[in-house]
This record gives sequence, C-alpha cells and structure tokens, in this order.
Amino acid sequence: MAYLKPDKPEKVYVPALRAAKEKGEKLACLTAYDYPTARIVDEAGVDIILIGDSMGNVIHGYGNTIPVTLDEILSAVKAVKRGSNRALIVADMPYGSYHTGDNEAVSNALKLMKDGGAEAVKLEGGRNRVDLVKRLVDEEIPVMAHVGLTPQSVHKLGGYRVQGKTAEAAQILIEDAKMLEEAGAFAIVLELVPREVAALVTQELKISTVGIGAGSECDIQVLVLHDLIGFTFGRQPRFVRQYANVSQVITEAITNWMEDVRGGKYPNENESYGLPEDVDLEKLKAIIR
Ligand code: KIV
Repeated sequence: MAYLKPDKPEKVYVPALRAAKEKGEKLACLTAYDYPTARIVDEAGVDIILIGDSMGNVIHGYGNTIPVTLDEILSAVKAVKRGSNRALIVADMPYGSYHTGDNEAVSNALKLMKDGGAEAVKLEGGRNRVDLVKRLVDEEIPVMAHVGLTPQSVHKLGGYRVQGKTAEAAQILIEDAKMLEEAGAFAIVLELVPREVAALVTQELKISTVGIGAGSECDIQVLVLHDLIGFTFGRQPRFVRQYANVSQVITEAITNWMEDVRGGKYPNENESYGLPEDVDLEKLKAIIR
C-alpha cells in the first residue's frame, strides 16, 4: 500500500478511502475517546479514528449507547483531535442528536466539526436516514453510514443479534446500503452481518464498507480499542480478537505499587525532594516546635 502506509504519514482524508478500495488496500479503524489513546492509535498508523458512542459501554459504564450525549462526544472529539495528526477523525452522532429534525441534526453535526474538529460524522440507520444523509452531504459534512446491528436501536431490536440472516432481511440490508451510497455517504459500517452478505455489499458498492463482526471481505475493519486490548469486562462477542490484557497489566501495576506503599518502599529518595543545602534543618525544627 503506497498512499496510506504508516511509514508514509500523509494525512488521511475522505477521498483516500475510495482510492484505497480501488487499489484493493485494506484499512484499519479503531475507536478512541481521549488524548493519550488518540496519540497511541494515530502514531501506530491506524487510518481512521472513530469517536464512537461505544464510549457509553466502554468508558461511562452506561450499559448501552442510548444515554451518550452530544457534549460527551464533543469533549472526546476535541481531545482525540489534539492527539492525532494523520488519521481521519470520524465522530459518532449520539442517539437523539439527529432524530428530531434535519436542521437540528445539521446543527449538531456542524458542532462536532467546527467546535470539535471532526472530519466526518457517523450515524445509524438505513433507508429512513437517506434524506438526512443527502442534507448533511449538501452541507459539506461527510457521512459514514451504519447498518446491520445498530446499537442505538437496542430497545427496538430487543438485544444485540446478527442482522440480515434471512433472504428478505439481507435484501433489505443490501438495498439500504445502496440507497445510502446514492445519498452520498462516503463509507458504511456493517455491524454483525453474515460474512457472505457483507462480501456482497462490499462488491456491490463503490464506497468503502467498514466491517465489525462482518467477515474479512469488508474494505475496512473497525474494532473498539478497549476490546482489542482487553480493557473491558464481561464476555466478548465472537468477532473480538483480544491482542493484549491491559486490565491485567493495570491490576499488576496497582498491586505492586500498593505493596511498596504499605512496605514503606515507595517513594524512595530519588522519587522525592530534599531541602537545599543552605537550609539548616535544626533551625527549621526549632521554628516549627
Ligand atoms: O460506537 C462505535 O464504536 C461504533 C463502532 C463499533 C462501529 O459504532
């Protein structure tokens, strides 16, 4: 891959995704919600950073994405933007921020771009979002669409299940993806979709597919960073491959530190500050006493 290689750190803009797809180059997208994580992800060479509303599960402990607010996303986008140079910055539009009319949706998306520094927004939904996607794109706001499992619909769906499993559901999903492409979306997340359906969508569309639990044929793979590095709790879905166990690393560090504190071994002389030589400690004691 020539254009997007980490050792060639050109800034990634929206058109680079289409160029990569045409060349058959796979791209990588990860979530980040804060400055240090963004720095690590960006400097590692990840092509797209998503400030996902998965922050509701991963860092706020809400249990789902429904309560996440625009302010929470905005604050995270600002931090991530400060920590990144190269990756394309995509901000999730949280539940409620694009559901009460197109003007309000545009105004919220503009906030993420103007105040936060996002370079694109992501929103969930199929044919029901086509008009909104057209409107956002008309206002120069690049849109990443999101179909398949859409976690903001958890109450309607009754849980997190694989979508597009019947012929009829697969057809609707493929039609939705095409309609979103025609509306002007530059990429589309396929979440928890059978790999054959994701492969079909990937072949049918000119825009990039961004797969999560959707097989290896997608143009781009996305994961929640906390899942990838083992910094989450509970059972993980089958598509998560855990590459590290950060929870264990943190626990070990804390345990070792506590042991040192309790044993009087932390801090040592080099980890504290002494008085300057010209200060007479005896005089100081006399003053204090
Ligand atoms: O919120 C998020 O992180 C997402 C990805 C899982 C695609 O929507």
